[in-house]
Amino acid sequence: MESSMLGKVLILTSTFLLTAEGAPVTKCFISKYRDLPPSEIKAIKLLKDTYESYERLIVLKHKVDLAVEILANMTNSSLSKNVIKPLEDLQIIENDLKICISNHRTQHSHQFKHWLHHFNKTKKMESPECLQKVVIPRIFQLRQEVVCVAQDKICEKKRSRLSSPSMN
Ligand SMILES: *[C@@H]1O[C@H](CO)[C@@H](O)[C@H](O)[C@H]1NC(C)=O
Ligand SMILES: *[C@@H]1O[C@H](CO)[C@@H](O)[C@H](O)[C@H]1NC(C)=O
Ligand SMILES: *[C@@H]1O[C@H](CO)[C@@H](O)[C@H](O)[C@H]1NC(C)=O
Repeated sequence: MESSMLGKVLILTSTFLLTAEGAPVTKCFISKYRDLPPSEIKAIKLLKDTYESYERLIVLKHKVDLAVEILANMTNSSLSKNVIKPLEDLQIIENDLKICISNHRTQHSHQFKHWLHHFNKTKKMESPECLQKVVIPRIFQLRQEVVCVAQDKICEKKRSRLSSPSMN
């Protein structure tokens, strides 16, 4: 049934092409797609990689935002002298990430939305003291994650963990 329907469609199409272009087009060309050309593979892979690295940028931006907020909250604490430099450095990174992200408008994957939902939830639920306790010791890992993303490498999960496993 289906193949005869397809046959009819193909005949109609070729008839149409015959009248439209004046040349007989009756051969089915599907066989030419038996091989996937390297140029096409490359283009598809590039699209996928660009898309994924864009989401990595946004994830990183959220983590840096949080670290900046926590450090900014510590500028009046007894550690204030030690806070200034890392805070300033992260603020520069934060601003650069903001610029990188602003050029993109895409739908997010389910995995990303899930991550963001958990990240937001944890951020809201934990006390400032608790967030500080978890994030400050991981600032170095966060900085390494910036390096990883800048080099477009996949970071180890352990390194990108910021506040809790759910924020990874
Ligand atoms: C730090 O202290 C100054 C002056 O007391 C105040 O204006 C500022 O809001 C404080 N910053 C934070 C993050 O608490
Ligand atoms: C998470 O919070 C950000 C702002 O901090 C907001 O833009 C976003 O819509 C929130 N997303 C979810 C899934 O809660
Ligand atoms: C920063 O301090 C403000 C005011 O005390 C507080 O509402 C906020 O939750 C703190 N942010 C973080 C990330 O600790």
